[in-house]
Amino acid sequence: MPAQFIDGKQIAEQCRLETQRQVAALHQRTGITPHLAAILAGDDPASQVYVRNKEKACAKAGLRSTLHRLPANVTQQHLLALIHSLNNNPDVHGILVQLPLPGHLDTVAILDAVTPLKDVDAFHPENVGLMLQGRPRFLPCTPAGVMRLLSVSRIPTAGRHAVVIGRSDIVGKPMAALLLQKGADATVTVCHSRTPDIAALCRTADIVVAAVGIPHFVRGDWLRPAAIVIDVGINRLADKLVGDVDFDAAVGHVAAITPVPGGVGPMTIAMLLENTLNAARLQLKHEDSAVS
Ligand code: GUN
Repeated sequence: MPAQFIDGKQIAEQCRLETQRQVAALHQRTGITPHLAAILAGDDPASQVYVRNKEKACAKAGLRSTLHRLPANVTQQHLLALIHSLNNNPDVHGILVQLPLPGHLDTVAILDAVTPLKDVDAFHPENVGLMLQGRPRFLPCTPAGVMRLLSVSRIPTAGRHAVVIGRSDIVGKPMAALLLQKGADATVTVCHSRTPDIAALCRTADIVVAAVGIPHFVRGDWLRPAAIVIDVGINRLADKLVGDVDFDAAVGHVAAITPVPGGVGPMTIAMLLENTLNAARLQLKHEDSAVS
């Protein structure tokens, strides 16, 4: 039987329409339009495309966005000063620093400088800690997008064995945490570059989440017929975008699979919009409690 095709583009569109509705309602109630400030340092071509897509999605959902473009040789001090001014600007609700930053910059110090209340990427250690404790302020966009794909597609996770391939701070680690948390209740294995026999682990998986950044890393014969396959990878291969999973080899004999492009990618952006809306609500609440 051919695999169920998990259409991230369509599910992201549904999420975006709901965000658009809620943005309009917030505006009607308070006069506030959620505002995302994005910072792009340097001229990495992939980052330029991602940031442009984020801006377009904001516009479609009725959110404001402002792009701060900085030269590749921007100083740490200049970038930190920009973040401080955005932190203190009541007109800005969400701040996103597009990664990767140019190599001379201290990425950790820069991400730590974003005030946790505007940290719509959920990269700040305070937000990572809250998420790990199961009381999230913001959910990290890509792992949250994967969880939403699973729930909208009515794919249960409780008691199932999820194998996450990759241990990055942006995807692998938070992905494992969300699958493990109460309510999701998966049994989670995290594989990485020092894991022996990833193929054998995948063959025991009900759900495989591939986030390694290596084109076609996961082979068709690593996957059980009942497997749900979520491909987070976006790799350029011979001028084509491909995932971390060998889609053509997998699609014929797994239960469900996400395509690349059009799978997880659009969901990441949809979750960023939701986080920016929630950041605006959160700041309203803080203003109210400061007054009363
Ligand atoms: N670069 C690759 N993925 C991401 C992401 O989710 N957020 C940011 N800010 N940069 C990225």
